[in-house]
Amino acid sequence: MRTPLLAGNWKMHCTPTETAALIQELRASLGDYDQREVLVAPPFTALATAATELDGSGILLAGQDLHWEDSGAFTGEIAGPMLTAVGCSHAIIGHSERRQYFGETDGRVALKIRAALRNRLVPIVCVGETLEERESGQMTDVIERQVRGALGALDARSIGSSVLAYEPVWAIGTGRVATPDQAQEVHAAIRALLGEIADADAAASCRILYGGSVKPDNVDTLMAQPDIDGALVGGASLKAKDFARIVHFQS
Ligand code: 13P
Repeated sequence: MRTPLLAGNWKMHCTPTETAALIQELRASLGDYDQREVLVAPPFTALATAATELDGSGILLAGQDLHWEDSGAFTGEIAGPMLTAVGCSHAIIGHSERRQYFGETDGRVALKIRAALRNRLVPIVCVGETLEERESGQMTDVIERQVRGALGALDARSIGSSVLAYEPVWAIGTGRVATPDQAQEVHAAIRALLGEIADADAAASCRILYGGSVKPDNVDTLMAQPDIDGALVGGASLKAKDFARIVHFQS
């Protein structure tokens, strides 16, 4: 019922020239796929090139962030209408790297989600605990605070059509992937929480992606879990063949 979404977050990698080459290689490697959605999120400066290269492929395009206002004196920022105009359908919001290095708060995440929805961009809202929070038993509280902070004030329909990404901070870029059971446990808890915040329909239709060291050799077991609806892939999305294999997960 929930179409799997395989999303590549390129982070701060790829010039426009490199973006064109990577997308060409990805299109060649992907071949046919159905009953799944594929998305890439290159840096802002490569979005226009990416949109041209993706034309006719069905692959979706996302910004890695957006500002909460639609325009204004915010030097260095990118607004929702700019993402829409360049061909984006989605925006990643609240990635742990933005929370960790750029002071992103739950309040700002909530404002950015509103900005995305206002501009008809599907928000991909990232949540996840640090190793310290997990080991000190705060994981559930942290995730609940992040999910409520992000989505708590939204109507059920908006929640149902949004995408969440559970990315344990200790698994990002470390090669240390959460086990399928660990990930499933958190995904199920998030879905139950969505049922409380919104309603059962919204909880059942909201897609929850797993992110953190997803690779060709672990995607199948992760995707076999009932509440894992896709993957938000960092490093492996920069290798066309690896990302193509991830898109073609078997479970
Ligand atoms: P890695 O796949 O490189 O661990 O990154 C995950 C991530 O942060 C995706 O948003």
